[in-house]
Amino acid sequence: MFKIHKRITLATVLMLSTTSIAFSQTKKAVYLDKNAPIETRVKDLLGRMTLEEKAGQLNQINYGMFTGPDNKVDGEQKKLDLVRQGKIGSFLNTLGVVKIKKVQQIAVEQSRLKIPLLFGFDVIHGYRTLFPIPLAEACSWDMEQVFQNSRIAAKESAASGLNWAFAPMCDVSNDPRWGRVMEGAGEDPYYGSVIAAARVKGFQGNLDGVFDILACVKHFAVYGAVEAGREYNNVDVSRVAFYNKYLPPYTAAIKSGAATVMTSFNVFDGVPASGNSFLLTDILQNRLGFKGFVVSDWNAFAEMIAHGYAEDKKDAVYKALKAGSMMDMESRTAIAFLPELVKEGKLTEAEVDKAVGAILYYKFKLGLFENPYKFLDEKREKENVFNAENRKVAREAAKKSILLLKNNNEVLPLKNPNQKIALIGFYANSKPDMVDMWKASADAHDCLTIHEGLKKQFSNITFVDGYKQDNSTSPELINQAVKNAENAEVVIINIGITGNLSGEDKSLADIAIAQGQVELLKALKKTGKPIITLVSSGRPMILNEVQGLSDALVQCWVLGTETGNAVAEVLSGKYNPSAKTVMSFPYSLGQIPVYYNHFNTGRPAGEPNAKEKPTDFYSRFHDIPNEPFYPFGYGLSYTTFNYSNLKTSAPVMDEKGSLSVSVDLQNSGKYDGEEVVQLYIQDVTASIVRPVKELKAFKKLLLKTGEKTTVEFKITPNDLSFFDQNGNSILEKGKFKVYVGGNSRDVLAALFELK
Ligand code: GLC
Repeated sequence: MFKIHKRITLATVLMLSTTSIAFSQTKKAVYLDKNAPIETRVKDLLGRMTLEEKAGQLNQINYGMFTGPDNKVDGEQKKLDLVRQGKIGSFLNTLGVVKIKKVQQIAVEQSRLKIPLLFGFDVIHGYRTLFPIPLAEACSWDMEQVFQNSRIAAKESAASGLNWAFAPMCDVSNDPRWGRVMEGAGEDPYYGSVIAAARVKGFQGNLDGVFDILACVKHFAVYGAVEAGREYNNVDVSRVAFYNKYLPPYTAAIKSGAATVMTSFNVFDGVPASGNSFLLTDILQNRLGFKGFVVSDWNAFAEMIAHGYAEDKKDAVYKALKAGSMMDMESRTAIAFLPELVKEGKLTEAEVDKAVGAILYYKFKLGLFENPYKFLDEKREKENVFNAENRKVAREAAKKSILLLKNNNEVLPLKNPNQKIALIGFYANSKPDMVDMWKASADAHDCLTIHEGLKKQFSNITFVDGYKQDNSTSPELINQAVKNAENAEVVIINIGITGNLSGEDKSLADIAIAQGQVELLKALKKTGKPIITLVSSGRPMILNEVQGLSDALVQCWVLGTETGNAVAEVLSGKYNPSAKTVMSFPYSLGQIPVYYNHFNTGRPAGEPNAKEKPTDFYSRFHDIPNEPFYPFGYGLSYTTFNYSNLKTSAPVMDEKGSLSVSVDLQNSGKYDGEEVVQLYIQDVTASIVRPVKELKAFKKLLLKTGEKTTVEFKITPNDLSFFDQNGNSILEKGKFKVYVGGNSRDVLAALFELK
């Protein structure tokens, strides 16, 4: 009995152990179970990771040949080895399905835990099909268009293997000396919020499709307030400005579900953003409830040493993680020092797990564990990148971004397709100068120049440079241009600055139009021919002199792939321009910063068309007006619009109620056209001073010539509230003014009281 029993026991043990091995082999690790809740999968995976592997998930490095933080050139093989060792969690600037697949394959087939990588890229205004720069896109005031633009950018990026775009940039800025104003949505916090939400939704969709990628809210925070518009410069703003002017667009983007946030290079209250617990813990996590993950800007952890905030790299990454930073872009401090910091007890593993877990969450959310090759389909790449459909959307966007600033004697549109046109200006014919530094994967040679576009609409164009690539001119070039003009019926001159002077590290102390171009324009003016001036620039420039020499003035920004087609459709009248500027155009360099939502001061100059104005000792410059050359919200159409009969539904609004505002609008001109009706509020007296105007609503509508309509808005208590210096939302009873018009200057006004 015993013997049999023993044999049975042995057999049972053998069977049980083989079953349990088999069972353990067939029983998937929880983190690989796609039916388990993501939080559970994250927790299980964290429990399996070594400290080095956790540090690896925080480590993001650039792909391809580059110089690392110590100017060390890393070869591709070394990076792929780090992937095998689980020491990299994400790459930036890895492009194309073939290359990304190769790297992802190593991560998911050769590393110990087979954690897929994230691949990020600066998709600022398109991946391969280039859209207008974001500042120009924002001038469309068309949120459906903005959403579609980001949707296409995401589709092309995802089809190319990427799963993360370092966009939208949500930095409010009113300083056109800063090259990065091109990346944002201008000077208004409310409008910047609406745009940010549309862009996040465009990139992310529901984060479950093959064209949905992670968005990245940047640069957190207040990077748009760099002093003097000088790149990487100091930022010093009050808490009132922080909460009321700069925070809203980041908030809107995060409330729209943005998965990631990028820390900015600047300090806030004297502490670098990447090590700033007020920004990253108090505000981002506690106030905004952000649940995604934070990535630093390039090498920003290590730059805390230069800032004078960190002793060395180990101290830098310690301070960064303590404050709420997570992924380390290109400083390599996390991979180098994190395990040590935990072993020394300076960082707890729980603190590390919070950062690593936030990143893993989105790798699970994107479905990369189930299918790490989800974004890696070469056929889909061929079908979805730079196709005609995408370019069509880019063309619509570009048309809506073109800003008509002057049109004397209706010199535009050019209705005669056979008109003799003198086209002058190096940039009108230069593809390399059409793109900015954030051209992503676009090829400048894919872009249609203004010359190419005009030739498709007009049969009789003669082109000459007029000035050189460096904006200088010469008597020969001027004479050639004058001759061209004299033989033509109308002159189109394209001036401005190269697209390459837009973007990061492109700050300019002088944003006047180059003297060579002005000299050329003066010579052309003398011919007596009608002059249409097109300005190509990624920022508002000083246009006074140029405006006076031009019969028509058109701000063409940096419009991307379809530039030429869009400009031609506008100049020919096929599309009636509808854009409105989202940044004030300064009257002069000395006027900067100038913006519409300013405080009144104790000695205001008064409204431009005020009947009574002070005579002296009031806030002004003696040599220029107080107003900008073109105000926020300004833009012309080929038709005209007439506003009348501004009314509020009552003179009093209850603090728990709302107030209707209506205005009559008529298309009083000869063309069908779109108008952006803007509604501004002024809190006349409050516990802290409030701006003279704040945009709170807008509607873009198409009216046929002669058509009249009534436009209605609803004002809610939220529109009247503001934040105090502690970030408390304040609503105070008292007098308010409501302004409605086609820009922030030319408005109808009405009074009401909040009781
Ligand atoms: C740059 C920019 C940031 C960009 C990042 C990656 O320095 O500041 O906007 O996303 O590095 O290229």
